[in-house]
Amino acid sequence: MARKIIFDTDPGVDDAMALLFVLNSPEIEIIGLTTIFGNSNVDATTRNALNLLDFAGRSDIPVAKGANVPLVIAPHPTGEFVHGDDAMGNIGWQHLNNPNVHEVDQHAAQFIVEQVMSQPGEITLVPVGPLTNIALALQLEPRIAKKVKEVVMMGGSVLHAGNVSPLAEANIHNDPHAAALVFRAEWPITMAGLDVTEMVQMNAAYFDELAAGSNRFGQFIRQIVAYYQQFHLDWYGMPNGEVHTHDPSAIAYLIDPSIYVGHQWPIMVATDGPAIGATIADRRLRFWKSPKVNCLMQVDGKRLLDLYRTRIRA
Ligand code: RIB
Ligand code: CA
Repeated sequence: MARKIIFDTDPGVDDAMALLFVLNSPEIEIIGLTTIFGNSNVDATTRNALNLLDFAGRSDIPVAKGANVPLVIAPHPTGEFVHGDDAMGNIGWQHLNNPNVHEVDQHAAQFIVEQVMSQPGEITLVPVGPLTNIALALQLEPRIAKKVKEVVMMGGSVLHAGNVSPLAEANIHNDPHAAALVFRAEWPITMAGLDVTEMVQMNAAYFDELAAGSNRFGQFIRQIVAYYQQFHLDWYGMPNGEVHTHDPSAIAYLIDPSIYVGHQWPIMVATDGPAIGATIADRRLRFWKSPKVNCLMQVDGKRLLDLYRTRIRA
């Protein structure tokens, strides 16, 4: 039986790459998309979620709009400089492509609570943006911690340098207080952070392979990724059209966890000072009593890239 997930997302180029990966993977059934600010404001990420589902012919999947600001801190600038003005690589997605599709009339946090409580033990939460919706859902109904099957998230970093500050990864940095709540809850969490997502790179030749044979998903990915590639060249000096494999990594773990090696360490999140947004792991298992997180620390990059190519070209 397919694993049921709620995909909490801020599309976003790599979010779109992850969503198309899920939609072509029979092991996973998306029961809903919840949207969050991050790569753009929540109106834009919701529009992109609806447009992506329309493009994929999957407008049957409900979309619930979530938070537009973090729990406590003042919002940081959103990520258009990485993902383009439309957060979809400047392909001109300023409006809904199909005026007949709409988000549901329920906040993302309420949607999460209702789905999880009505299907105990069945739903995996897969957040790949700031953790605000997940934290709001926990505040609304703390019992969801015992009712979800698992949380598999993209965000954070144990040993790898940060990508928005020396120590912090963007999703956690955008709402550190939400992340702190999520890491304190008693539920099984897997964290696909920069330790693994920056170790796997897709390059220009790989995107050509995805698009070969007029593959519709692959051609779309090659189109939206061009702006993101330019960012990776400007920011990291990656010369061959490489991009980091962030959000698709959470999906790869769901499909085949044996691609990764994880370590069980408690995580605390810095909520102020120069380390704000850092996910600090107690690697000696000595100092903190908070729940252990499955921190992914090694990845077989070839297997991940093979899996992603196979699924997108399916
Ligand atoms: O740090 C990478 C993360 O930030 C990804 O989820 C990307 O989509 C951005 O939100
Ligand atoms: Ca994201």
